[in-house]
Amino acid sequence: MFKPINSMTKIGLIMLLFLSVSVMASGKNMGMQSVAVQLSGTTLSQTMATASTAQAAAAKAEKQQPAVSHADYDKIDPEFKGIGPGNNTVPFIIALLVFALATVLGRRKKCKMPKVMMLVAFLAIAYIGKITYVEARALGRQQGYAPVQPIWFSHKVHAGQNGIDCEYCHVDARTSRHAGVPSLNVCMNCHNQVHKGSVSGTKEIAKIYDYLGYNPKTMQYDKPAKPIKWVKVHNLPDHVYFNHAQHVQAGKVKCQECHGPVEKMNRVVEYKELAMGDFCLDCHRKRGIDTSNPYYKHYKFKELKEKQGIDKITVDKIGGADCSSCHY
Ligand code: HEC
Ligand code: HEC
Ligand code: HEC
Ligand code: HEC
Ligand code: HEC
Repeated sequence: MFKPINSMTKIGLIMLLFLSVSVMASGKNMGMQSVAVQLSGTTLSQTMATASTAQAAAAKAEKQQPAVSHADYDKIDPEFKGIGPGNNTVPFIIALLVFALATVLGRRKKCKMPKVMMLVAFLAIAYIGKITYVEARALGRQQGYAPVQPIWFSHKVHAGQNGIDCEYCHVDARTSRHAGVPSLNVCMNCHNQVHKGSVSGTKEIAKIYDYLGYNPKTMQYDKPAKPIKWVKVHNLPDHVYFNHAQHVQAGKVKCQECHGPVEKMNRVVEYKELAMGDFCLDCHRKRGIDTSNPYYKHYKFKELKEKQGIDKITVDKIGGADCSSCHY
């Protein structure tokens, strides 16, 4: 005879088994991470991402920095909260409990509404399945990651309100693989004059002087300088090759297409899910290469268009979809 609740228990157990196997297979060191989840309140997937060594080092650097009140970050731009999968730990546990409860209650002989219980258990399992899918997809990726930085440096204040060009600070974006983060000397081009900000007063700008060993009163660098440890936000896995010059200079791709509206952010957040398919390849399959680039003149774009009606050569046609272009 078919016993609905019994079958549900079995399905549930199989789901749980599948879940734990998949988590064990993909999560590298769960023990450490679950502690991290509690400590930092970041999402399951983000903490998975911290497993990569660079990120772990960054997290350590973040901890070592003196405690700063960066509450201002999120107060001022709430629209950049909630990007990424969010923290699913609590809903996951609740759904698990609901499932367990519905199963146990439904199995009791006295139970008056076993069908309702079965439905509840089924819905809970479906919800767990959804969370599993979302978290599994985000594994190793870190959309929504927005670490607190050692200085309250705001792109909104600089690139937005003061209109400073991205490449004034990220000078290497056009010429090299890495866009790079400016040294504090670049900040001093302005901050030897500007001592006060409208949000943080003198507090945060004073940190620049502190790191550089600069005394704003005497205008001398008379103290020992210390290195600043910005926390890296974007970080592709080590097996991927990505080059800024290729995109910014040759490809004429705007920073914002990949990084989102940085000029509106007080705290940089990884805006897009930097996924191979939906991000990199999706663009490479649609985007045409720059027809004015003399390097591609052998394509004879004008002739192609007139004779064959082809109006663009997409990036995948020049090798942008070959595994070896992006993977070592
Ligand atoms: C006044 C200098 C300055 C300007 C102008 C500036 N940035 Fe930055 N940028 C920084 C500093 C310093 C950091 C490191 C601290 C941080 O992440 O907030 C940074 C970090 C970043 C990051 C995150 C890097 C990482 O760790 O992954 C991105 C992306 C970025 N900037 C993009 C932009 C874009 C796009 C613009 C133009 C709209 C821009 N920046 C303008 C100084 C600047
Ligand atoms: C085609 C997408 C794309 C464009 C366009 C792009 N970036 Fe990036 N950017 C990335 C990716 C992907 C990473 C992570 C690279 C890694 O981990 O190796 C990154 C990393 C960064 C970093 C962290 C430091 C570094 O170089 O790894 C900064 C800063 C940055 N980008 C700034 C910029 C600025 C400024 C522009 C525009 C001038 C820009 N990016 C244009 C995709 C892009
Ligand atoms: C091209 C000029 C320029 C450069 C370069 C520059 N800043 Fe600024 N910064 C300003 C101006 C102007 C303000 C004041 C904005 C305001 O009125 O709040 C400011 C404000 C600030 C503030 C206070 C923000 C607030 O509103 O409380 C901090 C912190 C800061 N800058 C850090 C940095 C750091 C770190 C760098 C180097 C990575 C840097 N700045 C580079 C022009 C610059
Ligand atoms: C918004 C569009 C866009 C996105 C997103 C994008 N690219 Fe590209 N990519 C381009 C364009 C345009 C070119 C062609 C540049 C040129 O003309 O050489 C290119 C070229 C390349 C090339 C050189 C291909 C070749 O064989 O010449 C590599 C490698 C590459 N991209 C890697 C990446 C990776 C890795 C990512 C994801 C992290 C990425 N790209 C995301 C637009 C994009
Ligand atoms: C345009 C650049 C690009 C090309 C071309 C590309 N990849 Fe990737 N690949 C990436 C990026 C970026 C990641 C890491 C981000 C992610 O998790 O999707 C990645 C991740 C992977 C992963 C790890 C997946 C995971 O979940 O950890 C594998 C395996 C992989 N690629 C295989 C391939 C194969 C096979 C090809 C050729 C058919 C290929 N890639 C072509 C950019 C590329």
